[in-house]
Amino acid sequence: MNAAYFITGTDTDAGKTWATVALMEYYQQRGHTVAAMKPVAAGCQWQDGRWQNADALLLQHHASLPLPYHLINPYAYELAVSPHLAGVANPVKIDTIIDSFKQIKIQADVVLVEGAGGWYAPINAHQDISNLAKALELPVILIVAIRLGCINHAKLTHQAIAASGLPCAGWIAVCNDADMPMREENIATLVTALASPLLGVVPYQNQVDFSVLARQLHGLG
Ligand SMILES: Nc1ncnc2c1ncn2[C@@H]1O[C@H](COP(=O)(O)OP(=O)(O)OP(=O)(O)O)[C@@H](O)[C@H]1O
Ligand SMILES: [Mg+2]
Repeated sequence: MNAAYFITGTDTDAGKTWATVALMEYYQQRGHTVAAMKPVAAGCQWQDGRWQNADALLLQHHASLPLPYHLINPYAYELAVSPHLAGVANPVKIDTIIDSFKQIKIQADVVLVEGAGGWYAPINAHQDISNLAKALELPVILIVAIRLGCINHAKLTHQAIAASGLPCAGWIAVCNDADMPMREENIATLVTALASPLLGVVPYQNQVDFSVLARQLHGLG
């Protein structure tokens, strides 16, 4: 198997990282090696002599192989603000991310690349997440947070992915609102509204168990 996907979401906090780790478990349960990147991360702690981000550390921890932190997260900014603001002194260069991606790709069957924020989140003064996904030439998986407003956000993002010319391999519903009324009805509406396959519904969990979440996914081979 040789596959790679770009993971975007309807917004920041949509569930991209949880869904990415669930996807990593999904592939590992099928006997594939998998790695994931969080190339641009804003909101980091100083740890082991460098800025490190919780998402990137989680992805590093769940990979099938040990990978150095700088490959997984080449741009780690201290402040949890938009990367184009956090990175003024050291702006994102997409070529650097492509280099890291290629180094990881030769080592794993499947590579997942988690974006930052949503599809049009700026990553430097001139480029946004859609430009990064296009430069990497990856099919996109859209993570939809099932909460009030999700239908509008999902349709807008799905349309924007199509406008970028990249294929959308599918979408994943992440139920990260414990009290969402009419959750199933919202998901059914999204199934009709989005012309890409639903790859799974990640249930709400108080205590996360990624191997259980992985079993809710399907359709990616
Ligand atoms: N299935 C779930 N059940 C319960 N809570 C969830 C679930 N998925 C996500 N969450 C909650 O939502 C939060 C945000 O999820 P996650 O970190 O995956 O979002 P994200 O899109 O990666 O955010 P960011 O834009 O910061 O990268 C998690 O920290 C967790 O508290
Ligand atoms: Mg994340």
